[in-house]
Amino acid sequence: MSANRAQVTGLNHRGEGVGRVLSGPDKGLVVFLESTVPGDVVEYVEIERSKGYLRGRVTEILEHGPGRVTEPCRVARECGGCSWQHLDYGLQLEWKRRIVEEAFARIAKIRDLEIRPCLPSPKILGYRNKVEVPVTERDGRIVAGFYRPYTHQVVASQNCLLEHPLAREVVSEMVNLIRARKYRAYNERTGRGLVRHVVSRVAPGTGERMAVLVINGRTVPGEATLARELTERLPGLVSVALNINMERTNVILGKTVRVIGGKPYIEDVLGSERLGHLKFRISPHSFYQVNSEQAVRLYEEALDEAGIGPDDIVYDVYSGIGTITLFAARRAYQAVGIEEIAPAVKDAWKNAEINGIENVSFIEGQAERVLPALSQGRLGLRDPRGRQIRAANLGGPGSAASGVVILDPPRGGADERALTAISKFNPRSIVYVSCNPATLARDLIALDALGWRPTYCQPIDMFPMTPHVETVVLMSRKEDK
Ligand SMILES: C[S@@+](CC[C@H](N)C(=O)[O-])C[C@H]1O[C@@H](n2cnc3c(N)ncnc32)[C@H](O)[C@@H]1O
Repeated sequence: MSANRAQVTGLNHRGEGVGRVLSGPDKGLVVFLESTVPGDVVEYVEIERSKGYLRGRVTEILEHGPGRVTEPCRVARECGGCSWQHLDYGLQLEWKRRIVEEAFARIAKIRDLEIRPCLPSPKILGYRNKVEVPVTERDGRIVAGFYRPYTHQVVASQNCLLEHPLAREVVSEMVNLIRARKYRAYNERTGRGLVRHVVSRVAPGTGERMAVLVINGRTVPGEATLARELTERLPGLVSVALNINMERTNVILGKTVRVIGGKPYIEDVLGSERLGHLKFRISPHSFYQVNSEQAVRLYEEALDEAGIGPDDIVYDVYSGIGTITLFAARRAYQAVGIEEIAPAVKDAWKNAEINGIENVSFIEGQAERVLPALSQGRLGLRDPRGRQIRAANLGGPGSAASGVVILDPPRGGADERALTAISKFNPRSIVYVSCNPATLARDLIALDALGWRPTYCQPIDMFPMTPHVETVVLMSRKEDK
């Protein structure tokens, strides 16, 4: 079979090279090629054909495009964890900016907004403070590693360069102990076996560490000694827990956590001169930005753009453990966090308490339900001491109080009911923090229909070596100039 040739001209949101076929019957057709850089001329074999495009696997690089570098990780090509290790970091940043620009233009038809240069991450390796490693068995031996792209085949690796070294060390020790204790790995096909995942979290600001063993059962043999051995070997390990997940599911964590050593959380300190410093308690189920140092820059951007003043009510929608809410509270009259995960809301209340912040309130529930109820006055708020907050002081339709909304939804974006309710609050501005340019662009269409336009857009690199990008967008009312 004669080789297919293509020239790569760009990169897409999945991190693949986007090229055109150079010869043969498919000449001119779009082809997606992993591990390529713009400017590459390659030979490839076809692995997928769809209407209007092909997907290929590169067999040879005939001409190298500029900006290709040697991958620092030896399993970079096999592992689905990060697909941009072969790109020079400057090129990664430029393409992240373009990915946002392309999503805005293609999906939301927004072409006249300046997409600012992507803010680089202080660390490009060793930044991930949370590590979740699947465990399996191969030839009777426990293997831990990462999934091959778009599969559940585990590529053995206990040395991921993106992980914070303190978290990586916890995973290594846990895997050693699983092997020594001859625990069986969970088998996705049969639903049998005990250990599904090992999870570790580290608080870079304090050095506190957490180890979580996700099991298909309620106990592991000798769990008290397991916790003791881990704690003895790993300084700073303050929390060892079992997570019970007996469902046939891809979701990593089950609902129940049982602490077998130490406390049920770790504590981090986060902040900067601009933000001030705060302590945050993080439990296994709570969301916490994986790149803590860059999270600080994200929060600085979001809060500065929000332009919060001392008379403002700030609604932090999708608030997690209350990071943005609490930093915002320091600049505002009142801050309100809305979050659906109960343990995260519990952490958020505790975080208000340990930081001595009283002008906050948290509501547990889905934004799309809570916001309409709030805006219609069907839901009351209380402060950290349990006292009712007067409705007149809450902003919202018809209220004299001015307000700002910051929303930071998960990858799927915001529910339209939430966006409608946010607009009804009549805030002075809306700051949308997004980890997915495609759903952000979709939501900008909904916000446009509600009378809002984006006036500022700052991509931020939270996830070096991957095509993922975080974006902060400031929205203003169309009639405001
Ligand atoms: C991207 S995180 C942002 C958290 C926080 N702003 C931070 O920086 O740590 C999104 C959060 O939204 C929560 N969430 C997801 N869907 C939700 C919904 N429908 N209503 C409220 N919270 C939701 C998740 O549990 C998660 O804590």
